[in-house]
Parts: sequence; C-alpha cells; structure tokens
Amino acid sequence: MSVLHNASKKTITGHAALRSALRDTQSYSSDLQGDADVRDYRQIPLEVDPPRHHLYRSALAPYFVKPAIEKHADIFRNNSERLIRDYFSGEPKEIVSELALPLVMHNLGAIYNRPQDVAEWISWGPDVWTAQSDKRDGSVLHRYIDAVYEQACMGKADDIYGEIAHLEIEGKRISPTEFRGIVGVLLAGGRDTVVKLLTGIMWHLAHTEDISRLRTGEISINSAIQEFLRFLTPLPAMNRTTTPESGAKVLPSDRYVSMSFISGNFDNNVFEEPFSIQLDRIRNPHLSFGFGPHTCLGNHIAEIEARIFLETLKDSNLNWKLQREEIRFHAAPFERVPDHFVSLIATLR
Ligand code: HEM
Repeated sequence: MSVLHNASKKTITGHAALRSALRDTQSYSSDLQGDADVRDYRQIPLEVDPPRHHLYRSALAPYFVKPAIEKHADIFRNNSERLIRDYFSGEPKEIVSELALPLVMHNLGAIYNRPQDVAEWISWGPDVWTAQSDKRDGSVLHRYIDAVYEQACMGKADDIYGEIAHLEIEGKRISPTEFRGIVGVLLAGGRDTVVKLLTGIMWHLAHTEDISRLRTGEISINSAIQEFLRFLTPLPAMNRTTTPESGAKVLPSDRYVSMSFISGNFDNNVFEEPFSIQLDRIRNPHLSFGFGPHTCLGNHIAEIEARIFLETLKDSNLNWKLQREEIRFHAAPFERVPDHFVSLIATLR
C-alpha cells in the first residue's frame, strides 16, 4: 500500500500511545481522502470510520481469514520453488522485479482466482500509481478496475470481483465507486508491502548466517517472519484526521496526524535492542499490520506467503551473496532500516 500522505503536523509515536490512538477512531478518524493526486474516491475499508467501516470489513473478512488463504498453500509453494529456481539460473537479476514482485502477483492471482491477470499486474511494477511512468497516475489501475467491474456485473466473473460486485451493504448492492475503492486497495495493499518483506528477507539472509540457524532448527520460521515484519515495517506510517472529511464545512489544514507504526516497532520499552534483527525474538507485539479496527485485512496473506517463501529457501541448499546493493534507508533515528530497495542483485556463493 503506498498512500501519498498529506503533510501532517503531528505524529503519534511509541508503542503504547499508538495502540491507544489507533483504537480511538473518534479523535483520530480515517475519514480522509488519500492519494488525492490520483483518485477522488475512498479506499474501502481503509478510509471509512466505524460504524460503516465494520459493515465493509465484515463483508470482506471471509475472503481473508487464515483458512481461506491456507487453501492456496500448495500453489504458493510451487510458485516459490519455481521462481527461486529461475531467479538463480542464468544471468544475475534484480530481486524486486524478477523474484519478489512476480511471486507476490502469482500468489495473488491464485487467491483472487485471476491467473489471467498476473502478467498485467507484474507489468505495473510494485506501485500501482506509477504503472506507466515515474509520474503518479491512476489511469492504468482505473481502466483495469472498470473493465473487471463490467465483466463481474455481467455475471462472467468466477472470481473475487464477481463476489465483491454483488456484495450488499445494508441491503444495497455496492456502487461502481465502492467497487473501485475496495478493489483498488486489494490490488495496492498487497504488493509493495509484501515485495519489501520478501526482498528484505533475501537482503538479511545474504549478510548473516541466519539461514543456517533456520536449517538446523535453532530459529523457528514463525518467529523469524514476525521479526522480519517488525524490523522492516513495510508500511511505516499512515495518516488520520482530527476532522472527519465527509460533509465537513471547514477542513483545518492542520487536521492530519501521522501514526508512526515504525516508532512503535523500535520502542525500547517493548523491544530489547530494537535495532538488532533477532529472528528468535520471543515476544514480538509489532505494529507492522497496524492495530485496532483497521488492522491489516491481508495479514494472513502476507504471513503465509512469507512463511512459504522462507521455508522454500530453508529447504533448498542455496546460499547467496549480494552482487549489487543500493538501498535508501529511513531518516534518523531509523537510519538502519531500509525504506526502499533501489537495486538488489543476489548471486550464489
Ligand atoms: C507485509 C505486508 C503488509 C503490511 C506491512 C500491511 C500493512 C497494513 C497496515 C499497517 C494497515 C493499517 C492501515 C491503517 O491503520 O490506516 C493495513 C490495512 C490494510 N491492508 Fe495491509 N499490509 C500488508 C499486506 C496486505 C495484503 C497482502 C493485503 C491484501 C491483499 C492488504 C490489505 C489491506 C487492507 C484491505 C487494509 C485496510 C483494512 C481496514 O481498513 O480495515 N494488506 N495494512
């Protein structure tokens, strides 16, 4: 999910303060228009407050619960095995574009039952708003969503779009704009975030002996995934507004408040030595998926695909080093945390 944030004057930091603010949807509302340069509709359920938020959320939740995602585990495994094998064959390649992004998109193709769209999604790159060029633009995504909506309304869609187009909220079928809002976040939410997680896993394992510790069973896959999620914090912050925007007569320019998930993940009141990546960390209440009513709906997708990716690496006999490494790091105090993997190329040791 890559939301363009309107400048916020205030930032909520620290684990306890964040948890309390993220629960307090009255003071810190999600009723705001993100990405205003490329869209004029709300991402749903992300930019909707309770109680309406709850209606959307409960309608979508059945598609994202753990058992619904686990059903695709064999396909995720085949995708991981094939793409990791291909990645290490032939010429050295970029991890983001040649391994992480294709894997995430093939997995999503299985979950949404849209394998026919995978090549198109990959061609957009990790960020749907820069699918065509470096200039942010919504036309590629919106053209795609409008086309799939038409198919879904004609009853031709045996996939998640068919289900979403026919959802009813308070007895009323969802509108084309609501469809855009839901499908937009389902396509945007699970790309750059998971791509960053998988790329970060490859980056860390190239620099340490942790893959051997995973192979001997000294570290469990599950605790490793939670620690990768904490350290990498793929979505470092999201905005709230102190004045809900829908129907507001006056919108104060200082209404935005940033929720710094990353500050919660490095809070040394909660995490010992937060800047060291400890894959065997026992207690790991990270805030990488947020907290409260808007907690990430795709958390099981991210965790299961990362788990299977890491299991595939562990079960292989592959060991790699980085031939090229260009990373943009966050500003202080998080200067050791990658913000963006500009170029990362791994080759076998
Ligand atoms: C490592 C991967 C991911 C991370 C770090 C992540 C992070 C987050 C965070 C922090 C939020 C809360 C935003 C807020 O409070 O304003 C969120 C919400 C959401 N995420 Fe994710 N996400 C990930 C993967 C996914 C995937 C795979 C999907 C679906 C395909 C997804 C769909 C959503 C949706 C629909 C919401 C809105 C939930 C709501 O408002 O009730 N995310 N995500």
